[in-house]
Amino acid sequence: MPASFPTLSLDRPDDIVAHLHALGWLTATEEVVRMEKAGEGNMNLVVRAVTTRRSFILKQSRPWVEKYPSIEAPGDRMLVEVAFYQAVSDHPAVADRMPAIFAVDEGSRSAILEDLGTASDCTDLYATGRLDPQPLATWLSELHDVQVPDPLREGLRNREMRKLNHAHIFDLPMTGAHGMDLDEVTPGLQALADEFRVRAGLRDITSVLGNLYLSDGETLLHGDFYPGSWLRTGDGVKVIDPEFGFLGAREFDLGVFVAHLHMSGHSSDECSRALKAYTRPFDRELVDRFAGVEIMRRLIGVAQLPLVRTLAEKKELLSRAERLMRA
Ligand SMILES: Nc1ncnc2c1ncn2[C@@H]1O[C@H](COP(=O)(O)OP(=O)(O)OP(=O)(O)O)[C@@H](O)[C@H]1O
Ligand SMILES: [Mg+2]
Repeated sequence: MPASFPTLSLDRPDDIVAHLHALGWLTATEEVVRMEKAGEGNMNLVVRAVTTRRSFILKQSRPWVEKYPSIEAPGDRMLVEVAFYQAVSDHPAVADRMPAIFAVDEGSRSAILEDLGTASDCTDLYATGRLDPQPLATWLSELHDVQVPDPLREGLRNREMRKLNHAHIFDLPMTGAHGMDLDEVTPGLQALADEFRVRAGLRDITSVLGNLYLSDGETLLHGDFYPGSWLRTGDGVKVIDPEFGFLGAREFDLGVFVAHLHMSGHSSDECSRALKAYTRPFDRELVDRFAGVEIMRRLIGVAQLPLVRTLAEKKELLSRAERLMRA
């Protein structure tokens, strides 16, 4: 990151205000009244700034994970997020369900976005289990129709973020090399994971799907289509955080989508109904296989969810993951 641009932090609010002024992102008469963490997130600095005129969201990516600064992450990911917003800007059916992007500063990997309000994301779904998936499935149909303009295509390959995600979705959960003691999550889960990891064929299935995830495709994907990226607003559910977006196979987004419907207690029939609202052709078996991997990695990988389940329930979910992976 160029030295002239600060690594912003809520510990140094004056620096944030100076940054906003330097970029002309505040009008001459506008004053920042308050700044706060916008919500729960791990990867980036995400700040809600309330001014005398409005509120907005400031987001900055840095070459590490915000919550765990010792862990490196691709520092340019804000530019991918911006490219995604640019790619969908001419598609109201997609863009209207996302925050507007007001201004971007490439040098500091920061941007300001429309504030969709303080309502929470949808990660309470794992506890409450109720969601109308139809608007989200419709949104995905529209997104997957977007023709990405040539100048944005290379950036939206998003290879570095895919590499990171590949490790956490397809590799580390199946090898256990993340080193996490799963008994600290749920006593007994470690043994379940050990036994799951050596079941015949599952490593190969995961590895084939992982290679598909790493292959370039033509469809613009959100890349992280789960309840943490869905915000409840007064204007319906909205979608945020496309930093993992890439040009790939539509079945990946669809698989992640239905995986989280499964994990929030929706039956297989309900998942099938949700997929009916996705009105473009797709390979259902491939969706199921990606869904299975997503369930597996959320249970025995590092990126755990607020999923309060007994060991028996997790065992049942892992069995469902296996059935889906073998679809
Ligand atoms: N445009 C917005 N309007 C209102 N709230 C927002 C907006 N963008 C982000 N937030 C809030 O900030 C939280 C974190 O945002 P976001 O998911 O973009 O950050 P992140 O660092 O990429 O998170 P993660 O680690 O989950 O990838 C969201 O869950 C939400 O509560
Ligand atoms: Mg994110």
